[in-house]
Amino acid sequence: MKKILSLFLTMLVATIATNAFAADEDPNLQLIKARQGEMELRTFSVMPLFRMAKGEIPYNADQAVKLVNNLKLLMQLDIGDAWAQGTGKDKYPGKTHSLPEIWSTYPKVAEAGKLYDAAIEELAAVAGNGLDALKSKIGGVGDSCKGCHDDFREKE
Ligand code: HEC
Repeated sequence: MKKILSLFLTMLVATIATNAFAADEDPNLQLIKARQGEMELRTFSVMPLFRMAKGEIPYNADQAVKLVNNLKLLMQLDIGDAWAQGTGKDKYPGKTHSLPEIWSTYPKVAEAGKLYDAAIEELAAVAGNGLDALKSKIGGVGDSCKGCHDDFREKE
């Protein structure tokens, strides 16, 4: 009896473990979530910088440098694999806002990515130098986010 109970428990645990992975049986959904998560982290770091520039929160040099360093760190992530072909909204409607143009017009999206990287570098060079310096470069960052979204992200 004890043996049967233990066998039953072993099977139960195995079933639970399998289900935990089966919940996302399509690995492409993990890719989509990863790239969306990275975008959320950009937003998390860039929003306070926009708010400082607009005067909604006080400018703080240490904070500004920390946030722009986060953005630079995100640029170091090697997650190109999360943008695998065949994971656009034509294949995964309701799961992703990525337009098929990302792949069909490649390397246009990469060029938009380079503009973004350049805008972050320009901001990083001055973010700690005062509110006016921040203001002079934050607009370029916003434009580069928007530029890419206009062409490659489905409108909400
Ligand atoms: C080179 C192109 C590109 C740049 C630059 C870019 N994005 Fe995105 N972003 C996308 C694409 C494509 C999606 C759609 C991702 C998906 O749903 O698969 C997206 C999605 C998002 C999302 C939604 C994520 C979610 O949870 O669905 C947010 C928020 C976002 N971006 C913020 C930003 C911010 C802030 C910046 C600039 C600091 C930025 N993005 C720069 C292409 C870009």
